[in-house]
Amino acid sequence: MAEWNPNNSIITMDTVPIRFGIGATEEIAYEIGKRGIKKVMLVSDPHLREIGLLDTVEALIRDSGVSVVTYDKAHAEPSDLSLKQALSFQEGVDTDGYVALGGGSTIDTAKAMNLYGTYPAPLQAYINKPIGEGIPVRGPLKPLIAVPTTAGTGSESTTVIIMDLLDLHLKTGISHPYIRPTVGIIDHLNTITMPPVVTASTGLAVLCHALESYISLSYNARPRSMSPDDRPAYIGSNPVSDLFCREAITLASKYLRRAYFQANDLEARSQMLMASTLAGFGFGNAGVHIPHAMGYPVAGMIRDYVAPGYPNRTKSQVPHGMSCIVNAPASFRFTFPAWPERHEDAARMMGVDTSGMTTEQLANAIPDTLIQLMKDLDMPNGLKDLNYQEAHIPSLVDGTLKQQRLLVNSPRPVTPSALENIFRDAMSYW
Ligand SMILES: NC(=O)c1ccc[n+]([C@@H]2O[C@H](COP(=O)([O-])OP(=O)(O)OC[C@H]3O[C@@H](n4cnc5c(N)ncnc54)[C@H](O)[C@@H]3O)[C@@H](O)[C@H]2O)c1
Repeated sequence: MAEWNPNNSIITMDTVPIRFGIGATEEIAYEIGKRGIKKVMLVSDPHLREIGLLDTVEALIRDSGVSVVTYDKAHAEPSDLSLKQALSFQEGVDTDGYVALGGGSTIDTAKAMNLYGTYPAPLQAYINKPIGEGIPVRGPLKPLIAVPTTAGTGSESTTVIIMDLLDLHLKTGISHPYIRPTVGIIDHLNTITMPPVVTASTGLAVLCHALESYISLSYNARPRSMSPDDRPAYIGSNPVSDLFCREAITLASKYLRRAYFQANDLEARSQMLMASTLAGFGFGNAGVHIPHAMGYPVAGMIRDYVAPGYPNRTKSQVPHGMSCIVNAPASFRFTFPAWPERHEDAARMMGVDTSGMTTEQLANAIPDTLIQLMKDLDMPNGLKDLNYQEAHIPSLVDGTLKQQRLLVNSPRPVTPSALENIFRDAMSYW
């Protein structure tokens, strides 16, 4: 018997099979056939219909003799309302498998259609406690083939669905291992049409996923679970997720500017999609923390802000990556004292020469590098550019404190007053 240790000592690593590389999309009919799917529900969004990407994939599936019903109305940043619309679309449609073609919004919408289509229940039922009832998913879902078109959220490999609850002005999620897609078809040819602002926002999400996971509270510094069923999906940084995160930080730091400035740079597109995939593997088991936890109320409470150049956005909305990156420099300034070596390590992966730096310079190495990247990619200069002011801080803090699932991953304990200071620091950076 192993000696009793009150802390967790077990590393878990679950992920999705992937087909990665140029032309992988052409194997979609093969992947569908392999799983015996005869009636596909294809989920996508109106912009991908408009630019022709959806028509191409629809034809690839149809030409293989499989019947297809297409839902092309997935909303960017899905909400309780948009998910209910997707669920009512599929009522009475006979389907035995799903294909999601799009960014995280579409993949999450398809995950929800699969979950509620397989085990019908009121929307509230599977949403995480305390906001929803947190009922565990009863059993395996239908096959879901995820084809990401952004680089990206990593949703093709995660067990999570994220949604806005419109009346509560809150973002939250559903999380269960059965929600994970069956296979990810990851092809950078599907990402070259991303407009620059989508490339920037989604690429910065990749960097946040990898940095937060790499600098999350270690897997063996938290309490042991009573049973394997109780072990949280996010176990904290560990030697397995570290491998993925290190590479993702290095690749995203090196290639994001190139993908932003030269849409057709295939090497940059491919390396950003690799970074997104690896970060997805990393954060899918280590977990994100403060920048994401703050990003949820930042996105949920937004008023009078439309991201310039973002497709399909007519109402106030902050894209996911933008809602996280605006908090990241201030968050990493806060977490630095808890684990200086990790922060220095990550800064080096971002290309910073840390030799001879003072402690103060080291504390600012990640924040300064992120701020320069935000400037170069024309991102908002902190929360004030999203029309937040000091007076909003108490509500933003309240909204962040509801994300305990994420805050427990911070390497430094997060108090309400610490959050207040981080929000103040995140108001503007330059
Ligand atoms: N489930 C998870 O693990 C997870 C993780 C992180 C974020 N998310 C969620 O994912 C959502 C954000 O997803 P996203 O950042 O990938 O963006 P998105 O799916 O919201 O897409 C953003 C916009 O870009 C357009 N677009 C996407 N790909 C394109 C392409 N190749 N060419 C042209 N336009 C394209 C879309 O039509 C859309 O208008 C948020 O709801 C966020 O909360 C989920």
